[in-house]
Amino acid sequence: MPQIFSGIQPSGELHIGNYLGAVKNWVALQETHPGALYCVVNYHAITGVYDPAVLRQRTFDMARSILAAGVDPDRAILFVQSAVPEHTELAWIFNTMTPLGELERQTQYKDKAARQESILAGLLNYPVLQAADILIYRADRVPVGEDQAQHLELSRDTARRWNARFGEGFFPEPQTLLTPARRIMGLDGQSKMSKSLGNTVGLLESDEAIWQKLRPAVTDPARQRKTDPGNPDVCNIYSLHKAFSPVDTQAHVATQCRSAGWGCIDCKKVLADGVSAELTPIRRRAELLDAEPARVHDALATGGARARALAQATMGEVRERMGLS
Ligand code: TYM
Repeated sequence: MPQIFSGIQPSGELHIGNYLGAVKNWVALQETHPGALYCVVNYHAITGVYDPAVLRQRTFDMARSILAAGVDPDRAILFVQSAVPEHTELAWIFNTMTPLGELERQTQYKDKAARQESILAGLLNYPVLQAADILIYRADRVPVGEDQAQHLELSRDTARRWNARFGEGFFPEPQTLLTPARRIMGLDGQSKMSKSLGNTVGLLESDEAIWQKLRPAVTDPARQRKTDPGNPDVCNIYSLHKAFSPVDTQAHVATQCRSAGWGCIDCKKVLADGVSAELTPIRRRAELLDAEPARVHDALATGGARARALAQATMGEVRERMGLS
């Protein structure tokens, strides 16, 4: 049975990009893969200046949103990364074996470094910690969005390098599991939906707040007037229909767009209904968890203990094989 692992940064809110690209898949995979591991990666979130109180709150909020989205702590192991400090021990070991050039070639590093005056080593070494997150559980399937593909490649290289020196076959080479919604664009239709770009739609936003964002969202740029026929294949709103609307609605929307039967605003109203149908139950569950925060803390405590036992077992073998114990 493949072992599933994935992680998410506690960077504020769960948005429809990381929900559709990853977390929704986590919920599906927990049914077929009991013991799937899902981690709020707080060590990854401290590679810049931050406020400890804000980090603590965001870590809790992210765990609460993941539970509200449908991750079930009786099926999956949900935990916070710093509850398992062995991740950082394995990351150090992998750091000693990772060529600097490979880290410098990572596109996420290059993008982030370009926006900073002083670049911290943690930003460069970030994907090494990510490899340790996955491999410490000897996980071989990683449900993520497309933007993580390069980091996953580095995880495979890391596993191969360690195995060649210390034990063939010990670490698996983790494969990326993508969803059809592997890259959700922001409502500007220009760039990936991302918290750092401020173009997100939050999973827990009200229907009204979401409508205010959908209404001005960019559609097929060639469609200037309502009477112009549109092309759903180049329309970001249509790509969201594919994620949120029933299949027969998608087909109807495409026909109405191509024939100019509907204007873009009509199409957006139907999308808003689909979004509301999917997100309203999630919002309800978040409200229940807010009324009972102990349920979140309990889930994390249980998950942290289960994850740590697994990680310690791997580290015992790693130390042994490396002459460290
Ligand atoms: P993070 O926190 O940026 O994003 C969490 C997950 O959401 C996916 N995602 C998207 N998918 C589709 N469209 C989008 N616009 C979009 N935005 C985000 C991401 O691909 C990711 O799957 N480095 C990771 C966290 C991490 C991790 C790991 C993941 C740390 N260790 C080990 C997997 C395994 C990150 O920053 O994800």
